[in-house]
Amino acid sequence: MQKNILIIGACGQIGTELTFSLREKYGNDVVIASDIREGNESLMNSGPFEQLDATDYDALEELVAYYEIDEVYLMAAMLSATAEKFPMRAWNLNMSSLFNVLNLSKEKKISKIFWPSSIAVFGPNTPRENTPQNTIMEPSTVYGISKQSGERWCEYYHNKYDVDVRSIRYPGLISWKTMPGGGTTDYAVEIYHKALSDSKYTSFLSENTKLPMMFMDDAIRATLELMESNAENIKVRSAYNLAAMSFTPAEISQSITTHIPEFKISYEPDSRQAIADSWPSSIDDSKAQKDWGWKAKFDLKKTTNEMLNNLNS
Ligand SMILES: NC(=O)c1ccc[n+]([C@@H]2O[C@H](COP(=O)([O-])OP(=O)(O)OC[C@H]3O[C@@H](n4cnc5c(N)ncnc54)[C@H](O)[C@@H]3O)[C@@H](O)[C@H]2O)c1
Repeated sequence: MQKNILIIGACGQIGTELTFSLREKYGNDVVIASDIREGNESLMNSGPFEQLDATDYDALEELVAYYEIDEVYLMAAMLSATAEKFPMRAWNLNMSSLFNVLNLSKEKKISKIFWPSSIAVFGPNTPRENTPQNTIMEPSTVYGISKQSGERWCEYYHNKYDVDVRSIRYPGLISWKTMPGGGTTDYAVEIYHKALSDSKYTSFLSENTKLPMMFMDDAIRATLELMESNAENIKVRSAYNLAAMSFTPAEISQSITTHIPEFKISYEPDSRQAIADSWPSSIDDSKAQKDWGWKAKFDLKKTTNEMLNNLNS
């Protein structure tokens, strides 16, 4: 049966690759990309695009009716570093866009939702190593507070209104097709660009700050696998822990020097250091493995190969 899919925030770091993958899988014309701004040329040329403000319920409802949308992937959000600068704007965007989509489903106008959460739902009191699915959270950032609240509302809408919403706590994502959009793990993308252009990089996180990370191909595959799983296998309706690798700026630098021996890293931690310090350094994703068979494929070595080869071609 054909289903029509809407991606909101399709021009961002994840949305761009998600749009390509969904179009490859289901066909260009059934996957509608939307964003408040236009995306890169290859995205804009790959299928239908609509300008949409995710906080405008009426415009969203109209678009969903017009294209007879069944599934929505809500990728629009303000990310961690930017959200610290604009707390109220972040809260309004992150929460109102989610409520708009949840309410559309409650009204039976769409049947399935993907909404991403983040490792930012955890805070300084969370066990840092191998952070469990269920544990102390207490996020200390604007972004983390919005993601944790979002998780609570997803679970609530599922329990009370039978809304089929699915979510993943993405770690920091590394990709070469689109630049990241204002997060605390952006360094792990910038470093590859700078390694190739300048053979040096100044990290805004300190040498030994270890954070959970994932290559974009794994993140997209996880998203599609979760969305394709039978509903009865999805036992967690807040958001699943997901893991692939954890590393420090020193370790990513070391993996780059195996390809570019002259590469040098230096460290000038800024305000993003405090955000990173409040997050876990590794994640236990055994629940995702058990419920829907998740398994990561990319470690740091493979990620560095992919990043340098693709950015260099
Ligand atoms: N990238 C990561 O490492 C990461 C990690 C954890 C969670 N996430 C989550 O994944 C989702 C996507 O992240 P991303 O990295 O692609 O972000 P991004 O900033 O690259 O992209 C977000 C997109 O949303 C769009 N947008 C902003 N306001 C909008 C509005 N009012 N209406 C419609 N579109 C709007 C932006 O133009 C942008 O294209 C977010 O919810 C983010 O919190 C990302």
